[in-house]
Amino acid sequence: MIKVGIIGLGAIGQRLIPLFSNHQETKIVAICDTLEERVQETSSQLESVLTFTNHLEMLENTELDLVYVTVPPKYHYSVVTDVIAKGINVLCEKPLANSTEEALGLYTQAKEKGIFHAMNFPLNYNVGSKSFASLIKSGYVGDLRRIELKMRFPNWPRLWQQNEWVATKEQGGYVLEVGVHYIQQIQKIFGNMKVGTKHMQYPADPLASENGIIAFLELEDGTPVIIDGLSQIAGEEEIKFTAYGSKGTLSLVNWANLEGGKIGEPIQQIEADQTLADSLIDHLVKALKGEEATIIDFSEGYKAQVVLEALRG
Ligand SMILES: NC(=O)c1ccc[n+]([C@@H]2O[C@H](COP(=O)([O-])OP(=O)(O)OC[C@H]3O[C@@H](n4cnc5c(N)ncnc54)[C@H](O)[C@@H]3O)[C@@H](O)[C@H]2O)c1
Repeated sequence: MIKVGIIGLGAIGQRLIPLFSNHQETKIVAICDTLEERVQETSSQLESVLTFTNHLEMLENTELDLVYVTVPPKYHYSVVTDVIAKGINVLCEKPLANSTEEALGLYTQAKEKGIFHAMNFPLNYNVGSKSFASLIKSGYVGDLRRIELKMRFPNWPRLWQQNEWVATKEQGGYVLEVGVHYIQQIQKIFGNMKVGTKHMQYPADPLASENGIIAFLELEDGTPVIIDGLSQIAGEEEIKFTAYGSKGTLSLVNWANLEGGKIGEPIQQIEADQTLADSLIDHLVKALKGEEATIIDFSEGYKAQVVLEALRG
Protein backbone atom coordinates (compact mmCIF):
# COMPACT_ATOMS: atom_id res chain seq x y z
CA MET A 1 0.00 0.00 0.00
CA ILE A 2 1.41 3.39 -1.03
CA LYS A 3 1.13 5.86 1.84
CA VAL A 4 0.11 9.29 0.51
CA GLY A 5 0.30 12.70 2.18
CA ILE A 6 -1.53 15.70 0.72
CA ILE A 7 -0.45 19.33 1.18
CA GLY A 8 -3.20 21.75 0.11
CA LEU A 9 -6.88 20.91 0.46
CA GLY A 10 -8.47 23.51 -1.83
CA ALA A 11 -10.49 23.01 -5.03
CA ILE A 12 -7.94 20.76 -6.73
CA GLY A 13 -6.65 18.89 -3.67
CA GLN A 14 -10.27 17.84 -3.07
CA ARG A 15 -10.53 16.45 -6.62
CA LEU A 16 -7.74 13.93 -6.18
CA ILE A 17 -8.72 12.83 -2.66
CA PRO A 18 -11.45 10.39 -3.84
CA LEU A 19 -9.11 9.04 -6.54
CA PHE A 20 -6.38 8.21 -4.00
CA SER A 21 -8.98 6.96 -1.46
CA ASN A 22 -10.73 4.64 -3.91
CA HIS A 23 -7.58 3.16 -5.38
CA GLN A 24 -6.74 -0.28 -4.01
CA GLU A 25 -3.03 0.42 -3.77
CA THR A 26 -2.96 3.93 -2.29
CA LYS A 27 -4.00 5.19 1.12
CA ILE A 28 -4.13 8.82 2.26
CA VAL A 29 -2.42 8.71 5.66
CA ALA A 30 -1.87 12.44 6.27
CA ILE A 31 -3.36 15.73 5.12
CA CYS A 32 -2.21 19.30 5.61
CA ASP A 33 -3.57 22.77 4.97
CA THR A 34 -2.73 26.05 6.65
CA LEU A 35 -6.49 26.52 7.14
CA GLU A 36 -7.46 24.42 10.17
CA GLU A 37 -11.16 24.27 9.18
CA ARG A 38 -10.28 22.77 5.77
CA VAL A 39 -8.20 20.12 7.51
CA GLN A 40 -11.04 19.26 9.90
CA GLU A 41 -13.67 19.20 7.17
CA THR A 42 -11.54 16.97 4.93
CA SER A 43 -10.48 14.61 7.73
CA SER A 44 -14.13 13.97 8.62
CA GLN A 45 -14.52 12.36 5.17
CA LEU A 46 -11.44 10.13 5.49
CA GLU A 47 -10.68 7.08 7.58
CA SER A 48 -7.97 7.44 10.24
CA VAL A 49 -5.90 10.20 8.71
CA LEU A 50 -3.26 12.30 10.49
CA THR A 51 -3.94 16.04 10.27
CA PHE A 52 -1.54 18.99 10.12
CA THR A 53 -1.56 22.75 9.55
CA ASN A 54 2.21 22.85 9.01
CA HIS A 55 3.66 20.75 6.20
CA LEU A 56 7.10 20.47 7.86
CA GLU A 57 5.47 18.80 10.87
CA MET A 58 3.67 16.42 8.53
CA LEU A 59 6.90 15.52 6.71
CA GLU A 60 8.75 15.12 10.02
CA ASN A 61 6.16 12.98 11.80
CA THR A 62 4.64 10.73 9.15
CA GLU A 63 5.93 7.79 7.17
CA LEU A 64 5.10 8.66 3.57
CA ASP A 65 5.78 7.11 0.17
CA LEU A 66 4.36 9.97 -1.90
CA VAL A 67 3.41 13.57 -1.19
CA TYR A 68 0.92 15.38 -3.42
CA VAL A 69 1.52 19.16 -3.35
CA THR A 70 -1.51 21.20 -4.39
CA VAL A 71 -0.94 24.60 -2.85
CA PRO A 72 -1.12 27.85 -4.93
CA PRO A 73 1.68 28.20 -7.53
CA LYS A 74 3.66 30.76 -5.49
CA TYR A 75 4.24 28.16 -2.76
CA HIS A 76 5.13 25.17 -4.98
CA TYR A 77 8.85 25.94 -4.80
CA SER A 78 9.20 26.17 -1.03
CA VAL A 79 6.86 23.27 -0.20
CA VAL A 80 8.20 20.89 -2.87
CA THR A 81 11.78 21.78 -1.84
CA ASP A 82 10.93 20.62 1.70
CA VAL A 83 9.45 17.35 0.40
CA ILE A 84 12.52 16.66 -1.76
CA ALA A 85 14.85 17.48 1.15
CA LYS A 86 13.17 14.68 3.12
CA GLY A 87 13.81 12.30 0.22
CA ILE A 88 10.09 11.64 -0.32
CA ASN A 89 8.59 11.04 -3.77
CA VAL A 90 6.48 13.93 -4.98
CA LEU A 91 3.51 14.67 -7.21
CA CYS A 92 3.25 18.42 -7.86
CA GLU A 93 0.37 20.36 -9.36
CA LYS A 94 0.97 22.36 -12.51
CA PRO A 95 2.61 24.76 -13.19
CA LEU A 96 5.76 23.33 -11.64
CA ALA A 97 6.64 26.65 -9.97
CA ASN A 98 6.23 30.40 -10.31
CA SER A 99 9.32 31.20 -12.42
CA THR A 100 11.74 29.44 -14.77
CA GLU A 101 14.51 29.60 -12.13
CA GLU A 102 12.29 28.00 -9.49
CA ALA A 103 11.17 25.28 -11.92
CA LEU A 104 14.75 24.46 -12.87
CA GLY A 105 15.67 24.48 -9.16
CA LEU A 106 12.98 21.89 -8.35
CA TYR A 107 13.92 19.69 -11.28
CA THR A 108 17.61 19.82 -10.34
CA GLN A 109 16.98 19.11 -6.65
CA ALA A 110 14.67 16.18 -7.42
CA LYS A 111 17.19 14.68 -9.85
CA GLU A 112 20.10 15.07 -7.44
CA LYS A 113 18.12 13.55 -4.55
CA GLY A 114 17.10 10.63 -6.77
CA ILE A 115 13.44 10.76 -5.79
CA PHE A 116 10.48 10.01 -8.06
CA HIS A 117 8.96 13.28 -9.34
CA ALA A 118 5.70 13.68 -11.23
CA MET A 119 3.21 16.36 -12.18
CA ASN A 120 -0.55 16.43 -12.52
CA PHE A 121 -1.23 17.38 -16.13
CA PRO A 122 -4.59 15.58 -16.58
CA LEU A 123 -4.67 15.89 -20.39
CA ASN A 124 -2.14 13.05 -20.47
CA TYR A 125 -4.71 10.65 -19.00
CA ASN A 126 -8.06 11.77 -20.46
CA VAL A 127 -9.80 9.86 -23.25
CA GLY A 128 -10.47 12.96 -25.42
CA SER A 129 -6.95 14.35 -25.28
CA LYS A 130 -5.34 10.93 -25.61
CA SER A 131 -7.51 10.32 -28.71
CA PHE A 132 -6.39 13.71 -30.09
CA ALA A 133 -2.73 12.73 -29.64
CA SER A 134 -3.32 9.29 -31.12
CA LEU A 135 -5.13 10.66 -34.22
CA ILE A 136 -2.30 13.15 -34.77
CA LYS A 137 0.23 10.32 -34.50
CA SER A 138 -1.70 8.23 -37.02
CA GLY A 139 -1.53 11.07 -39.57
CA TYR A 140 -5.14 12.34 -39.40
CA VAL A 141 -4.16 15.94 -40.26
CA GLY A 142 -1.23 15.04 -42.54
CA ASP A 143 1.73 17.41 -42.47
CA LEU A 144 1.22 19.98 -39.75
CA ARG A 145 0.64 23.55 -41.00
CA ARG A 146 -0.47 25.42 -37.88
CA ILE A 147 -1.51 24.94 -34.24
CA GLU A 148 -4.00 27.23 -32.54
CA LEU A 149 -5.04 27.50 -28.92
CA LYS A 150 -8.16 29.62 -28.49
CA MET A 151 -9.30 30.44 -24.94
CA ARG A 152 -12.50 32.37 -24.15
CA PHE A 153 -13.59 33.00 -20.57
CA PRO A 154 -16.74 35.04 -19.92
CA ASN A 155 -15.57 35.06 -16.28
CA TRP A 156 -12.04 34.84 -15.03
CA PRO A 157 -11.71 33.48 -12.41
CA ARG A 158 -14.16 30.75 -13.30
CA LEU A 159 -17.10 30.34 -10.93
CA TRP A 160 -15.78 27.03 -9.54
CA GLN A 161 -12.32 28.36 -8.72
CA GLN A 162 -12.78 31.51 -6.65
CA ASN A 163 -9.73 32.23 -4.51
CA GLU A 164 -7.41 35.10 -3.74
CA TRP A 165 -4.63 34.16 -6.21
CA VAL A 166 -6.03 32.87 -9.52
CA ALA A 167 -6.87 36.33 -10.91
CA THR A 168 -3.57 37.93 -9.86
CA LYS A 169 -0.70 38.75 -12.19
CA GLU A 170 1.68 37.41 -9.54
CA GLN A 171 0.61 33.76 -9.69
CA GLY A 172 -2.62 33.50 -11.68
CA GLY A 173 -4.27 34.29 -15.00
CA TYR A 174 -5.55 31.83 -17.57
CA VAL A 175 -2.32 31.62 -19.53
CA LEU A 176 -0.76 30.12 -16.38
CA GLU A 177 -3.79 28.19 -15.12
CA VAL A 178 -5.16 26.82 -18.41
CA GLY A 179 -2.61 27.63 -21.09
CA VAL A 180 0.15 25.61 -19.44
CA HIS A 181 -1.85 22.36 -19.89
CA TYR A 182 -1.83 22.91 -23.65
CA ILE A 183 1.76 24.16 -23.74
CA GLN A 184 2.74 20.83 -22.15
CA GLN A 185 0.58 18.90 -24.65
CA ILE A 186 1.91 20.78 -27.68
CA GLN A 187 5.51 20.12 -26.63
CA LYS A 188 4.79 16.45 -25.89
CA ILE A 189 2.96 15.81 -29.17
CA PHE A 190 4.74 18.18 -31.57
CA GLY A 191 8.09 19.02 -29.93
CA ASN A 192 9.55 22.10 -28.28
CA MET A 193 8.44 25.59 -29.19
CA LYS A 194 9.67 29.14 -28.72
CA VAL A 195 7.77 32.36 -28.17
CA GLY A 196 8.19 34.88 -30.99
CA THR A 197 5.95 37.91 -30.59
CA LYS A 198 3.24 38.36 -27.96
CA HIS A 199 0.70 40.95 -27.02
CA MET A 200 -0.75 40.73 -23.51
CA GLN A 201 -3.70 42.87 -22.43
CA TYR A 202 -4.43 43.76 -18.80
CA PRO A 203 -7.29 45.46 -16.97
CA ALA A 204 -6.73 48.76 -15.15
CA ASP A 205 -5.90 47.09 -11.80
CA PRO A 206 -2.08 46.71 -11.85
CA LEU A 207 -2.26 43.57 -9.69
CA ALA A 208 -4.78 41.76 -11.92
CA SER A 209 -3.95 38.99 -14.39
CA GLU A 210 -4.30 39.34 -18.17
CA ASN A 211 -7.67 39.72 -19.88
CA GLY A 212 -6.24 39.16 -23.35
CA ILE A 213 -3.34 37.50 -25.13
CA ILE A 214 -2.31 37.08 -28.73
CA ALA A 215 1.00 35.29 -29.09
CA PHE A 216 2.88 33.86 -32.02
CA LEU A 217 5.17 30.92 -31.28
CA GLU A 218 7.08 28.47 -33.45
CA LEU A 219 7.85 24.78 -33.27
CA GLU A 220 11.47 23.83 -33.98
CA ASP A 221 10.67 23.29 -37.68
CA GLY A 222 9.10 26.75 -37.91
CA THR A 223 5.44 25.63 -37.78
CA PRO A 224 3.43 28.53 -36.32
CA VAL A 225 1.57 28.18 -33.02
CA ILE A 226 -0.99 30.86 -32.18
CA ILE A 227 -2.30 31.45 -28.67
CA ASP A 228 -5.37 33.64 -28.67
CA GLY A 229 -7.14 34.30 -25.35
CA LEU A 230 -9.80 36.72 -24.11
CA SER A 231 -11.69 36.97 -20.83
CA GLN A 232 -14.48 39.14 -19.40
CA ILE A 233 -16.48 38.80 -22.64
CA ALA A 234 -19.99 37.87 -23.73
CA GLY A 235 -20.83 34.28 -24.59
CA GLU A 236 -19.75 30.85 -23.45
CA GLU A 237 -16.46 29.57 -22.10
CA GLU A 238 -14.49 27.86 -24.86
CA ILE A 239 -11.04 26.27 -24.97
CA LYS A 240 -10.25 25.02 -28.45
CA PHE A 241 -6.95 23.37 -29.33
CA THR A 242 -6.63 22.85 -33.08
CA ALA A 243 -4.08 21.29 -35.40
CA TYR A 244 -4.35 22.22 -39.10
CA GLY A 245 -2.55 19.99 -41.57
CA SER A 246 -2.17 19.15 -45.23
CA LYS A 247 -4.94 16.52 -45.04
CA GLY A 248 -7.33 17.82 -42.42
CA THR A 249 -8.15 19.68 -39.21
CA LEU A 250 -8.50 18.24 -35.70
CA SER A 251 -9.64 20.03 -32.54
CA LEU A 252 -9.91 19.18 -28.87
CA VAL A 253 -12.77 21.32 -27.56
CA ASN A 254 -13.30 22.14 -23.88
CA TRP A 255 -10.76 19.56 -22.67
CA ALA A 256 -12.64 16.46 -23.76
CA ASN A 257 -14.54 16.72 -27.07
CA LEU A 258 -13.03 15.93 -30.43
CA GLU A 259 -14.06 17.40 -33.75
CA GLY A 260 -12.41 17.41 -37.12
CA GLY A 261 -12.61 16.76 -40.81
CA LYS A 262 -10.59 16.04 -43.90
CA ILE A 263 -9.96 18.82 -46.42
CA GLY A 264 -13.09 19.39 -48.52
CA GLU A 265 -15.35 17.88 -45.83
CA PRO A 266 -17.30 19.61 -43.05
CA ILE A 267 -16.03 19.58 -39.45
CA GLN A 268 -17.84 16.90 -37.46
CA GLN A 269 -17.83 15.45 -33.95
CA ILE A 270 -15.40 12.54 -33.60
CA GLU A 271 -15.93 9.78 -31.04
CA ALA A 272 -13.06 9.50 -28.61
CA ASP A 273 -11.40 6.09 -28.38
CA GLN A 274 -12.72 4.75 -25.04
CA THR A 275 -10.04 2.07 -24.95
CA LEU A 276 -7.58 4.89 -24.17
CA ALA A 277 -9.25 5.53 -20.75
CA ASP A 278 -6.51 5.99 -18.22
CA SER A 279 -5.77 7.07 -14.67
CA LEU A 280 -3.00 9.19 -13.18
CA ILE A 281 -3.15 7.20 -9.94
CA ASP A 282 -2.70 3.88 -11.78
CA HIS A 283 0.38 5.29 -13.48
CA LEU A 284 1.79 6.68 -10.22
CA VAL A 285 1.35 3.27 -8.59
CA LYS A 286 2.99 1.49 -11.52
CA ALA A 287 5.92 3.92 -11.56
CA LEU A 288 6.47 3.58 -7.81
CA LYS A 289 6.50 -0.22 -8.24
CA GLY A 290 9.20 0.21 -10.89
CA GLU A 291 6.87 -0.66 -13.76
CA GLU A 292 6.57 1.22 -17.03
CA ALA A 293 4.19 4.17 -16.69
CA THR A 294 3.10 7.43 -18.29
CA ILE A 295 4.54 10.07 -16.00
CA ILE A 296 5.01 13.76 -16.73
CA ASP A 297 8.06 14.53 -14.66
CA PHE A 298 9.67 17.77 -13.53
CA SER A 299 11.80 17.99 -16.68
CA GLU A 300 8.61 18.32 -18.75
CA GLY A 301 7.19 20.68 -16.13
CA TYR A 302 10.30 22.81 -16.49
CA LYS A 303 10.06 22.83 -20.32
CA ALA A 304 6.45 24.00 -20.11
CA GLN A 305 7.45 26.66 -17.57
CA VAL A 306 10.07 28.10 -19.95
CA VAL A 307 7.35 28.79 -22.55
CA LEU A 308 4.86 29.94 -19.91
CA GLU A 309 7.28 32.50 -18.46
CA ALA A 310 8.23 33.79 -21.93
CA LEU A 311 4.52 34.54 -22.38
CA ARG A 312 3.94 35.97 -18.89
CA GLY A 313 7.20 37.91 -18.60
N1 LIG B 1 -4.33 19.85 -12.64
C1 LIG B 1 -5.37 20.64 -12.86
O1 LIG B 1 -6.24 20.36 -13.69
C2 LIG B 1 -5.50 21.92 -12.08
C3 LIG B 1 -6.62 22.74 -12.24
C4 LIG B 1 -6.68 23.91 -11.50
C5 LIG B 1 -5.65 24.25 -10.63
N2 LIG B 1 -4.55 23.47 -10.52
C6 LIG B 1 -3.41 23.80 -9.64
O2 LIG B 1 -3.65 23.23 -8.36
C7 LIG B 1 -3.06 24.04 -7.34
C8 LIG B 1 -4.10 24.37 -6.29
O3 LIG B 1 -5.16 25.09 -6.88
P1 LIG B 1 -6.56 25.27 -6.11
O4 LIG B 1 -7.52 25.82 -7.11
O5 LIG B 1 -6.91 24.03 -5.37
O6 LIG B 1 -6.18 26.43 -5.06
P2 LIG B 1 -6.92 26.76 -3.67
O7 LIG B 1 -6.52 28.14 -3.31
O8 LIG B 1 -8.37 26.40 -3.78
O9 LIG B 1 -6.28 25.71 -2.67
C9 LIG B 1 -4.96 25.79 -2.21
C10 LIG B 1 -4.93 25.34 -0.76
O10 LIG B 1 -3.57 25.33 -0.31
C11 LIG B 1 -3.56 25.82 1.03
N3 LIG B 1 -2.18 26.26 1.32
C12 LIG B 1 -1.53 27.37 0.90
N4 LIG B 1 -0.25 27.37 1.34
C13 LIG B 1 -0.10 26.22 2.05
C14 LIG B 1 1.00 25.65 2.76
N5 LIG B 1 2.20 26.23 2.80
N6 LIG B 1 0.79 24.48 3.39
C15 LIG B 1 -0.40 23.88 3.36
N7 LIG B 1 -1.48 24.37 2.71
C16 LIG B 1 -1.33 25.54 2.05
C17 LIG B 1 -4.62 26.92 1.04
O11 LIG B 1 -5.06 27.18 2.37
C18 LIG B 1 -5.71 26.27 0.19
O12 LIG B 1 -6.60 25.50 0.94
C19 LIG B 1 -2.49 25.25 -8.08
O13 LIG B 1 -1.13 25.03 -8.32
C20 LIG B 1 -3.22 25.27 -9.38
O14 LIG B 1 -2.49 25.88 -10.43
C21 LIG B 1 -4.47 22.29 -11.21
